[in-house]
Amino acid sequence: MSDVSRPPTAETRPQARTAVVIPAAGRGVRLGPGAPKALRALSGTPMLIHAVHAMAASRGVSLVVVVAPPDGTAEVKSLLDAHALPERTDFAVVPGGESRQESVRRGLEAVPPDHTVVLVHDAARPLVPVDTVDAVIDAVRDGAVAVVPAVPLADTVKEVEPAPVPGEPEPVVATPDRARLRAVQTPQGFDRATLVRAHETVTGEVTDDASMVERLGLPVVVVPGHEEAFKVTRPLDLVLAEAVLARRRLNDGF
Ligand code: CTP
Ligand code: MG
Repeated sequence: MSDVSRPPTAETRPQARTAVVIPAAGRGVRLGPGAPKALRALSGTPMLIHAVHAMAASRGVSLVVVVAPPDGTAEVKSLLDAHALPERTDFAVVPGGESRQESVRRGLEAVPPDHTVVLVHDAARPLVPVDTVDAVIDAVRDGAVAVVPAVPLADTVKEVEPAPVPGEPEPVVATPDRARLRAVQTPQGFDRATLVRAHETVTGEVTDDASMVERLGLPVVVVPGHEEAFKVTRPLDLVLAEAVLARRRLNDGF
C-alpha cells in the first residue's frame, strides 16, 4: 500500500529550516554594575556563549542571530569565533536597540526567508536544556504558529493596586487560581511570517514575543518548560547558575 495520499506528519514533512534570534543587547541593570549582562562570565565563559551553545545543541537549528549591545558587536563576533559552533550552524551578529522588542525586530530582519521557523531566546537564559529547545521546534513544525515553554508556579500570585510609593502597603485586588497560571520561558517558537507580522503591526510595550501574536488574535500554545531555563536577572541567579553548571560537570565526570 502506498501512503502518498496521507497528510504529512512530523516525520515525513520536509524539515523546515529553523533560525534562532538571541536578544543579548540589555545592560543587566538588576544584576548590578559591570559589563552588559550577556557578556558576564558563568564558570569562565560569557553567558551569551552558553546560550548560543544551548541553541546550537539542537540538530534542528541551522542559524543563530545574536543581537549584541550596540557598542559590543565586534567583541561578540570575536567571542563567537573563539567558541566553535557545530559545523551545521551558521551565525550572524547585529546591533540591538533601546528595548528588547526593538532588539528582536532587528534580529528578525537578519533571518533569511527560507528559515520558516524562528525561535527567540534570551541570552539571559543560558542553561536551557536541548530537550526544551527541541520540544518548541517540534510543536511549530507540527503546525502551531506560536509556542512558549512554561512551568507551573510555586508561589501563589496576587494582583494588587500598585502603591504610588514603593514599599507602602498595596491593596490586593484578586488571587488568580494558581493551577491555571504558568511562568513562561524562552526559547519561544514561531511561524516566521506570523512573528514578522506581529512585529510590524503590534505597538506598545510587551514583555514577551508570544503576547504580540496573542494581540493578533492568533492561538499561542504552551509546552513544558524546564527549571534550568530560568532567567538570570538578579545576583542570586548567578549563584544558582554556577551551581547548575557545577552539578553538570560532576554528572559528566561519571
Ligand atoms: N535585551 C535586548 N535589548 C534590550 C533589552 C534587553 O536584547 N534593549 C535582551 C537582554 O540582553 C536579555 C533579554 O533581552 O537577554 C531579556 O531581558 P532582561 O532579562 O530584562 O535583560 P536586561 O534588560 O539586560 O536586564 P535588566 O532589565 O535588569 O536591565
Ligand atoms: Mg530588561
